[in-house]
Amino acid sequence: MRGGRALLRVYRGFPLAQTCPRTVSPAEGARLMIHLASSVDAIRGASPRIPAPCLTSRLELRPFCEDDIERIATLLADREVTLFIGGTKPFAAAADSVLYMRDAFAGRGWGTLAVVQRSNNACIGYCGVRPLINTPYVELAFAFERTSWNCGYATEAAKASLDLAFRHLPVDSVVATVYPDNRASIRVLTKAGMYLHGSIFGVWPRSSALLYRLDRTTWRTFVPSLTRSSPFAAGRVAARRTDRVYSTKLR
Ligand SMILES: CC(C)(COP(=O)(O)OP(=O)(O)OC[C@H]1O[C@@H](n2cnc3c(N)ncnc32)[C@H](O)[C@@H]1OP(=O)(O)O)[C@@H](O)C(=O)NCCC(=O)NCCS
Repeated sequence: MRGGRALLRVYRGFPLAQTCPRTVSPAEGARLMIHLASSVDAIRGASPRIPAPCLTSRLELRPFCEDDIERIATLLADREVTLFIGGTKPFAAAADSVLYMRDAFAGRGWGTLAVVQRSNNACIGYCGVRPLINTPYVELAFAFERTSWNCGYATEAAKASLDLAFRHLPVDSVVATVYPDNRASIRVLTKAGMYLHGSIFGVWPRSSALLYRLDRTTWRTFVPSLTRSSPFAAGRVAARRTDRVYSTKLR
């Protein structure tokens, strides 16, 4: 029962039912969330781990370490880079972010990773999947230093992160929130196979954003060769378990 109240609170404070074109009741909204959800609770129950480092053709995605603080602090001090991600951060806050990402990945087994250029070992940004705060969703997040933009790095890292998520986490979908004027990010999301799903409200730092999504079935079609080795690719077992968790909590 306590879980039920928690879920409804999440729903009220974060009306994802707004992604639906018509008005819905709280119960119906909760059902929509169940239908949509990649439940972070269900993942916690399953305790999966994303294996890292992960290599792509030009990049290495690996857990953060203290040596990355300098580069990420520079990235987070750049007005243009942080325009859509909450504004610049002072060095100490950037250092906290790096250590938080490092510890979150180590503790949870999945999260945002440092993106490193394999050619020179330079950390050029971050990318990965993480819980979307105050929701049951798993979101894809990324940011790269300006000197690396428009070389396809974000797309390469985003695709790898989505593959890792669907191969190693019992999620039915991964979402991304993006502001409509962040055209480069929208382009990256669509190149990685995500599609516009609706709007989402209550997201920091602005009050609304677009919600992009990639569901497991579409991902399986998008990258059929990769899905064969996924422990979660064969069916909707994990998704059904997620539904049951949330139905139980609602009663
Ligand atoms: C968004 C971001 C990660 C993209 O990184 P990137 O490595 O340059 O991305 P890619 O090179 O893989 O792809 C960028 C695409 O956007 C396009 N693009 C760039 N600027 C654009 C603009 N102003 N309008 C439309 N398209 C644009 C590029 O042409 C490219 O598409 P193409 O391959 O079809 O030519 C990077 O700009 C960034 O770090 N931004 C700041 C942080 C941020 O906004 N993060 C996302 C929060 S939702």
